[in-house]
Amino acid sequence: MEIKGKKAIVLGGTSGIGLSISEKLRDAGAQVIAGSRSQCELPGIETVYVDVQDRYALSQLFEANNGFDILVNAATGGPREVKPLLEMDLDGFQGSFAKLWGYVNSVKLAAPHMADNGCMVLVSGYPARKWRPNMLAIGTVGGAVETFIRHAACELAPIRVNGLAPGVIDTPMSPLEGDARKAYYENSTSNNLIPRAGTAEECALAAIFLIENDFTTGTIVDVDGGGILGG
Ligand SMILES: NC(=O)c1ccc[n+]([C@@H]2O[C@H](COP(=O)([O-])OP(=O)(O)OC[C@H]3O[C@@H](n4cnc5c(N)ncnc54)[C@H](OP(=O)(O)O)[C@@H]3O)[C@@H](O)[C@H]2O)c1
Repeated sequence: MEIKGKKAIVLGGTSGIGLSISEKLRDAGAQVIAGSRSQCELPGIETVYVDVQDRYALSQLFEANNGFDILVNAATGGPREVKPLLEMDLDGFQGSFAKLWGYVNSVKLAAPHMADNGCMVLVSGYPARKWRPNMLAIGTVGGAVETFIRHAACELAPIRVNGLAPGVIDTPMSPLEGDARKAYYENSTSNNLIPRAGTAEECALAAIFLIENDFTTGTIVDVDGGGILGG
């Protein structure tokens, strides 16, 4: 797909990985609408308030942009439970699935309003296929997201549906600051083949690849510095 002249909606498009994807789409000549619950101004990008859990609001957004070409969903969608299973609050575990439901809502409600040659990119995460301490809930959600991507790709063809699975990426998702932030990223990536945190831009480049490449669907691109293969 040539991005120039296309219309893109990027949910979670105002921060981190989603923001970098919004900017790259804008720079490639797309009309970009970035949706989230934050009020902010981004140069050359229209921002809209939308909660991915609000199906009515999502429907309104997609209807208003009928015929649009590109859907990206990078919204975390809600809280995440980061604990070992035996210490985990089970409501918290269930709540972590807010990410999946935000993705499901957007794919189901957007598809009828997209161009036949449209494409979607959803953001998973490497815990879907790699055990890490405290990541059981997030990994389980990621596994569901990746299975959803493959099934949705089959049902929605010719619309293409792909996924991007980041490793540890330095984004505003982490509230840590200063030395604590530096130590967290160093420790959590020390066993990676490329031992550093990735950047939002490195993830966005993979999203752009999946959007531009008309021969990709139902696939997941890992951008994890070899995190899945590392110890
Ligand atoms: N960073 C990592 O290390 C990493 C690793 C693996 C996977 N991921 C995945 O990558 C994706 C992006 O993460 P990120 O690191 O870029 O996080 P981020 O910087 O915190 O950005 C998340 C974005 O999602 C939006 N969002 C969250 N809940 C929403 C909701 N209910 N409705 C609408 N928008 C919502 C946020 O805006 P508002 O809060 O203002 O709504 C924000 O724009 C997520 O799916 C995350 O699970 C990240």
